[in-house]
Amino acid sequence: MPKIPYVNLAAQWTAERQELLPIVEQVLASGQYIGGNIIQEFEVQAAKACQTKYCVALNSGTDALVCGLLALGVQADDEVITPPNSFIASTAAIVHLRAKPIFVDVLPDQNIDPAKIEAAITSRTKAIMPVHLTGRMGRMDEIRAIAERHDIPLIEDAAQSMGSRYQDIPSGKWGEVGCFSAHPLKNLNACGDAGFLTTDSDEIAQRVRLMRNHGLIDRNTVERFGYVSRMDALQAAILSYRLTELDGVIEKRQRNATLYRELIHQEHIFIPEDRGQEFNTYHTFVIQTRQRDELKAYLLSQGIETAIHYPIPIHLQPAANYLGYSRGSFPVTEEQATQILTLPVHQYLEPQEIECIAQHVNTFFA
Ligand SMILES: Cc1ncc(COP(=O)(O)O)c(C=O)c1O
Repeated sequence: MPKIPYVNLAAQWTAERQELLPIVEQVLASGQYIGGNIIQEFEVQAAKACQTKYCVALNSGTDALVCGLLALGVQADDEVITPPNSFIASTAAIVHLRAKPIFVDVLPDQNIDPAKIEAAITSRTKAIMPVHLTGRMGRMDEIRAIAERHDIPLIEDAAQSMGSRYQDIPSGKWGEVGCFSAHPLKNLNACGDAGFLTTDSDEIAQRVRLMRNHGLIDRNTVERFGYVSRMDALQAAILSYRLTELDGVIEKRQRNATLYRELIHQEHIFIPEDRGQEFNTYHTFVIQTRQRDELKAYLLSQGIETAIHYPIPIHLQPAANYLGYSRGSFPVTEEQATQILTLPVHQYLEPQEIECIAQHVNTFFA
């Protein structure tokens, strides 16, 4: 067991036990495990947090992406523009609809480079999917302007960015559709798989509500075949409680990130700045260094667990061979994949632990 683990969900349980147990008990006692008020309450609360008209509670961020793309009308042979440095699910959602992911390289801060989007647009482009990686939002004003100029809908992969804002507008509000994950490792996390979708469109909300429940328009009638993508009532109840705690979670993560920035000497390390218009929620805290592997091994030898998000760009995954990309297709993404290292930043870390990690990083380079 490392001295400082990368995640500590057991600490979350200890901190929340008193509040969570009665909530869980109430759901179990109610016998209402699928659908019902608890789901609706979560949806109202999450839509309010994202400043959208609707939230549709789903079983995962991946299905939020699949349902979102479907609701935008994406189908076989359509193209969807997205970055190649995300978690595999962003691209998988496109592939599951037999559409084609068209990758666009990223900026030093790991988010999609708006200057490269327009060259990737063709007559078959049916959506643009930026990913707000690490909890930092993409340059949504520029991306939105491109989408509007070409009349292409935006679907935000907001899986890592619940609560994040850009120019004071929340993630999930910038696109026609916002897709969130509430996986246990996210800032707003369920005790299992969960996700949700946000939109201002009556039609999209309605379509996704049908799609998450087999496409049933009433108990016995299906107009269009759907999926089983519902959020469990148990997860919705937990998420409703945790949504009330989210500001505190984000504050602690931001405090940890600020401490890192102050303490880590940055001669050999690049840490992307937070620009003025960004409200970064630090799902992860990623540094970039040429000596990434050596630093990772050194930190582990000191009892500090780190992670890499993500070591293999999606276009270089065996599953993506058929798309015809190769090494060199996306130089920024590929270089970053060898240099990125995620330091622990979760809300249960004490400032002394951040100081300890920063000190070991500095010692390694000294
Ligand atoms: C960027 C990104 N997209 C999509 C997903 C998929 O979310 P989920 O694991 O809830 O299906 C994740 C989460 O792991 C993610 O980080």
